Amino acid sequence: METRADPTTRSQRLAPVAVLGGVLALAGCSGQAPSALDPAGTGAGRVADLWWVLFWISIAVFVEVMVLLAWALLFRRRRDARVRHGQPLRFVVVAGAGVPLVILVTVYALGLRDLAALGDGPEPGATTIEVTGHQWWWEVRVPGVAGATANELHIPVGEQVRIRLRTVDVLHSFWVPQLMPKTDLIAGEVRETWLRAERAGSYRGQCAEYCGTQHAHMAFLVVAEPRRDFDAWLARLGSPAAGPQTDAQRRGQQAFAQGSCAGCHAIRGTDANGQVGPDLSDVGARWSIGAGAVPNDGGHLGGWIANSQTVKPGNHMPPQPVPAAQLPDLIAYLQSLK
Ligand code: CUA
Repeated sequence: METRADPTTRSQRLAPVAVLGGVLALAGCSGQAPSALDPAGTGAGRVADLWWVLFWISIAVFVEVMVLLAWALLFRRRRDARVRHGQPLRFVVVAGAGVPLVILVTVYALGLRDLAALGDGPEPGATTIEVTGHQWWWEVRVPGVAGATANELHIPVGEQVRIRLRTVDVLHSFWVPQLMPKTDLIAGEVRETWLRAERAGSYRGQCAEYCGTQHAHMAFLVVAEPRRDFDAWLARLGSPAAGPQTDAQRRGQQAFAQGSCAGCHAIRGTDANGQVGPDLSDVGARWSIGAGAVPNDGGHLGGWIANSQTVKPGNHMPPQPVPAAQLPDLIAYLQSLK
């Protein structure tokens, strides 16, 4: 039968396509995914420097091994003659044991140096931000400030900031690739790390320890901004949420308070004081819904309220029996919370 292509031939023909696809897919990543090789913070800078050292050592070793392999293949006969006379023993000891030992000790020492530098902790008096991991979102608080927010923390640019980490359930890991290496959140422990952003901007963070079904949707945003803006954020965090301005927003607030929402979510300055889910006092200003699951706009917000299980299956918010007429009001109210 000639109609069917031979599978081997076909897969061989598809190989370049697969390689090209892979390259394009990786190229596509560079636009959105944060890269640890594009550091904007002290800790990430050290990690990136170490990465490049390892990279160039690997390249050097690879090239050296390939050259030796070629040499061995091309001049095998002559080498055999020399082996008989025991001459290359010194070469084997130096290249096979001495050089690897020097490389490994150097890399180990560099790793220890960076570990010590990062482990020193922030300078005394550094701003502290408390981050608590939940399946699958991040609770953010600042000691001495009444409010809380979720999946977004602000830091003053150029300053060392202490991050105090807890988890209420399973292991999570706090990682901002462009700013700092990972720190695990361990049940029953309070762990501390620190970061320092060298330039202002928004940096995506990600839970880096598998923590259940929605581990991938446990992202967050670190906003590094001038001190003045950071202080304004702190002030907002400590203030009551914005009150409703329009009729729709007022109806939405009522629906929120009287429905099941307030049982799980808090909105500062209102009777809603639930502590199960994220505080929603500034939900209208957040970068995403569901810790990076979907963009924060009216359509996605409505879909999330009605049945977040279709958006982020397994999350702890059950589907809400909200009357269709109430949904636009609820959306209007929540979007006004900035
Ligand atoms: Cu939290 Cu993975």
